[in-house]
Amino acid sequence: MGLTIGIDVGGTKVLAGVVDADGTVIAQARRETPADDVGRTRELIVDVIRELSAAHPVEAVGIGAAGWIDAERSTVLYAPNLAWRHEPLRDSIAADIDLPVVVENDANAAAWAEFRFGAGTGTRSLVLLTVGTGIGGGIVLDGHLIRGEHGIAAEFGHTLAVADGHPCGCGARGCLEQYTSGTALVRFARSEARDGAGAAAELLALVGGDVEKIDGPTVTRAARDGDPTARAAFAEIGRWLGYGMADAVQVLDPAVIVVGGGVSEAGELLLDPARRAYADRLTQRGKLPVAEIRQARLGNLAGLVGASDLARQR
Ligand code: BGC
Ligand code: NA
Ligand code: ZN
Repeated sequence: MGLTIGIDVGGTKVLAGVVDADGTVIAQARRETPADDVGRTRELIVDVIRELSAAHPVEAVGIGAAGWIDAERSTVLYAPNLAWRHEPLRDSIAADIDLPVVVENDANAAAWAEFRFGAGTGTRSLVLLTVGTGIGGGIVLDGHLIRGEHGIAAEFGHTLAVADGHPCGCGARGCLEQYTSGTALVRFARSEARDGAGAAAELLALVGGDVEKIDGPTVTRAARDGDPTARAAFAEIGRWLGYGMADAVQVLDPAVIVVGGGVSEAGELLLDPARRAYADRLTQRGKLPVAEIRQARLGNLAGLVGASDLARQR
């Protein structure tokens, strides 16, 4: 099969591309979408498919969506950070376009892309953790993407970090993604800036003194400039990420752990504390071989590239 379309649907944007069998994106289209408007998001997805398929001879569509997808790869059962609730996404899109459609979890799609074309090439197994609004997870073992019996395996973001901790979009409390994610980064930075007695000078200067205006990119910028509060916020989410990695290794023993998602673009600010906590928490440390930590290679294209490849292989 030749060209397929891959689409990554997140909270703020729909990012789509026409992708060839080698994982090369040959055309792209993007739409901004309101996180809470399911109908509008659906329209925008149909819209980008029409635009791209009018210009390229595509044979199938793969959609990576930020939520829990059923085993048939058709319905978004639930999305902790989006408005989807039992949304029959595949059939509703397929009704408007004349191409086969598969729906996949966004992080599963990204894991598949990194395995086939990115940081995991040459291995047989990997765990991918995407650090964004939430924590996404994807597992490839012995060359197979692991979906689980009901399609919702690899939800590392909703494993327990802190008993009775912060409330999570999934309805539970204390989930890992409340302690390591873009959301957690901002929460840590804001709370430190509020009571941190002068340590957050750089950070506060970037937002004109308004703590509520602190967002992920601001924390990254301030941390790069050496602001201690911003660095401490990265150290904190990095630590929790490392604990999550150690748990993943304890359970699955992959060859590599790939770290992706928007927050991972901060590189060592996140990965250095993560590696330390990972080494610290590993029972196997110093006794057995363990998974290497690698930064993702496909950047924000991973989700769409993976979804396009899964559509090709459906
Ligand atoms: C959701 C996952 C999703 C991840 C990244 C989590 O909150 O539970 O399904 O992959 O966010 O978007
Ligand atoms: Na997943
Ligand atoms: Zn949760």
